[in-house]
Amino acid sequence: MLTISVSAENLLSQHVDCYAYVVEKNFDVAKLHEATKVCPELGDVIKHRGFSGSLQEIVSVPFSHNNKLAFCIVVGMGDQNIKGVGVVECYRRAVGQLVKEVRACKGASVAFHCDADLLGSVAHEYAAEQAVIALKLAEYHFDDFITEKSRKENNFNRVILVTESQHTEDVQRGVTKGTVIVDAVNQTRHWIDMPPTQFTPQHLVEKAQEVAQRNNLKMTAFGEKEIIQMGMGGLASVSRGSEVDCALIILEYKTTKQNAPTLCFVGKGITFDSGGLSLKPADSMETMKDDMAGAAAVISTIDALAQLKPDVNIVVLAPTSENLPSGTATKPGDIVKFYNGKTAEIKNTDAEGRLILADALSYAVKHYKPDAMVDLATLTGACAYALGPVYSGLFSEYPALSEKLHAAGDISGDRLWQMPMGDDYKKAITSTVADICNIGSKQIRAGGTTAAHFLQHFVGDTVWAHIDIAGTAFDVPNVSYYRPGATGVGVRLLVNLAMNWNK
Ligand code: BES
Ligand code: MN
Ligand code: ZN
Repeated sequence: MLTISVSAENLLSQHVDCYAYVVEKNFDVAKLHEATKVCPELGDVIKHRGFSGSLQEIVSVPFSHNNKLAFCIVVGMGDQNIKGVGVVECYRRAVGQLVKEVRACKGASVAFHCDADLLGSVAHEYAAEQAVIALKLAEYHFDDFITEKSRKENNFNRVILVTESQHTEDVQRGVTKGTVIVDAVNQTRHWIDMPPTQFTPQHLVEKAQEVAQRNNLKMTAFGEKEIIQMGMGGLASVSRGSEVDCALIILEYKTTKQNAPTLCFVGKGITFDSGGLSLKPADSMETMKDDMAGAAAVISTIDALAQLKPDVNIVVLAPTSENLPSGTATKPGDIVKFYNGKTAEIKNTDAEGRLILADALSYAVKHYKPDAMVDLATLTGACAYALGPVYSGLFSEYPALSEKLHAAGDISGDRLWQMPMGDDYKKAITSTVADICNIGSKQIRAGGTTAAHFLQHFVGDTVWAHIDIAGTAFDVPNVSYYRPGATGVGVRLLVNLAMNWNK
């Protein structure tokens, strides 16, 4: 457990083993004069190495402080010239790099100045919130199944954010809020990182129940029988090859504000995607335990929001199933009927995400009539190819919602790139035997967009956006606060969207 506290005492008077400074590119070394007084070699090392404060550049120098071994660490956050990466993201990455260095030094504790000035003119609360988020994102590790003691990382356990006394309250508020958000992100990552046989739809239901109980949220979970009875043929068809039951999880948060708008968040919850009878090649299957990243993210989002209490109502829907081949599995050529009465021809059982989302979206529209709806799904390899691990794909024909999402992405770090919708793509999913087909035509290709058009058949005239996280949910490289495995993408985004909805 990493505990984070706030102090108005001088940095070097703190009882920690790492003393850290976050600096901009081409910073003035005189800024470090306090540190160089106790650690005289710091200035020489900076000069010798030509350390300039580039993004994620770092030096650490051991020194003796109060007769104990300590480290002085300086980490760079670059400058405004890094294209496509905002200053706050640079700050998060600098803090992420710092955590790595503390770990490398086998440090147990670190203190650094929580400096809002580094981020332009942002409030101290936001600077502290983002520092905590980056710290705890970087501290996350998944070692439940590692037995070798030396590979367990439980050393680093304490952070002190130093600030001026007039800002301690703001900084403390930021720490509290940041902790709620990042704990939700790390919870998402943990669920995704779990082995798929130990994290089936039933486990997701249990986790959702815990979230509901902790926060006093209304929860509904439909089982496979009810799903079939209700006419959710999409979700039922995907689950047919699996030995375990599918489910539709619904969680509701209600604000005390009268006449507040309702936001629906829908997440794809395939706990393992083998492709079904349209079996994936082995390589593509390796990371398919991450195919419930959308569901994990929306459930954790409402967990955080129930604590942060925005003035909007939130409904989260997570359809969840395994996608496996067997003698009872859905076959290419089968036709399914969804909750809203539409039918689809299944040409490829590996395009299963849209089938389970179709039922969940239809249900949300009918029963909650949301003011806006956002779905989050590891939906297409095509989107992952188009945008790589850098942006999630945003598909929406509602400019006001898209703008809100874009802003939330930039502020939170879960960045989005808008992809085209447009009627020219609609023809891609025509079928000769059913209303629509579950894969796009070979001529139109554009797999991310055709998947979005499939979903559009189930949202009616609801203000809606689809976010494809296939490229951003797992194994994002070169971002210091991540490591191999799940990223928890979407939680920071949707928390931010809900918190700023009425602004
Ligand atoms: N879960 C996959 C998409 C995916 C790919 C997620 C890579 C994460 C990384 C999805 O269910 C899928 O298999 N999509 C197919 C659709 C195709 C058959 C139309 C794809 O993208 O290949
Ligand atoms: Mn698939
Ligand atoms: Zn899938």
